[in-house]
Amino acid sequence: MSQEPRDFSSISPSAKSLQMMKGYTNIPYAQQTAALMQGTEIFDLNFEEKDFWFWIRVMHFESRYWSIDQLMKLTDNKNILEISSGYSLRGLDLCARDESIHYIDTDLPEVVAMKEDMITRLHLAKDITGRFELIPLNVIDGSAFKSVVDRFSDRPITIVNEGLLMYLNTEEKIIVCKTIHSILKQRGGCWITADIYVKRPGEVTLPQSKSETAFLEQHKIEENKFDSYEAARDFFENLGFEIEKEAVPNYQELSVMPHLLKVLPEEVRNSKEPPPKIQATWMLKAV
Ligand SMILES: C[S@@+](CC[C@H](N)C(=O)[O-])C[C@H]1O[C@@H](n2cnc3c(N)ncnc32)[C@H](O)[C@@H]1O
Repeated sequence: MSQEPRDFSSISPSAKSLQMMKGYTNIPYAQQTAALMQGTEIFDLNFEEKDFWFWIRVMHFESRYWSIDQLMKLTDNKNILEISSGYSLRGLDLCARDESIHYIDTDLPEVVAMKEDMITRLHLAKDITGRFELIPLNVIDGSAFKSVVDRFSDRPITIVNEGLLMYLNTEEKIIVCKTIHSILKQRGGCWITADIYVKRPGEVTLPQSKSETAFLEQHKIEENKFDSYEAARDFFENLGFEIEKEAVPNYQELSVMPHLLKVLPEEVRNSKEPPPKIQATWMLKAV
């Protein structure tokens, strides 16, 4: 009996929550796009009383965003594909600054439609000098993935993503990895993924609203994370990847820091320890 294809669109509301948080950072276009977001968001975040935990989250997502840029600077690839980009406009920003870039920005159809509308309403397309394309892509569809890649000239490509793999089960992750591996093997280039999340120790819990807990449970986020960084390394190596580089977070430079410092509890302020590592961003090559 054939299985119903999974409806990935139930994941998309998380992109709105993330963009609303990023609206408090200096991530390009985040303030303008967040200001267009209407109504409630799925995590039921408390935007009224922005406490320590609110700013910690914003810090995490700001840091994750820049970690990808940090590794992108190490490549000179002009062909860049972002998968599951949500409302992020990294590609538009790059294409506004560099006319030699061809950036293909992708997500599921509803997100792409909303993003297109945002770009139009904010008149952002006028900034572009490079080639920027916004195209629907379900990453599980290997042939659609390859058709999108065929839009690039015949040069190495950089594939980037953040905030996707923890929504995919092992089988789905393997499908995506195999597609990306065969593309990189053929073309050269690299995959920069910020999705190396490891399971939290059982005793660690974070303050969460009921709706966030329900959303994360519905999508089996904790279960989908890697057991450890070693397990993540083995997973990618078994699929023919090699870890070329890991991004190094630079917390001091984050735009969120002044806000976070104002609400920092005394014991954290006095600690010399960096925040605990819950995630890593890797540059992977196909070998
Ligand atoms: C947590 S959001 C991250 C969005 C963005 N990358 C960011 O960090 O702000 C997850 C994104 O994955 C997208 N997504 C989920 N399943 C997908 C699939 N099968 N193919 C492509 N995108 C998918 C959702 O639509 C959503 O935009």
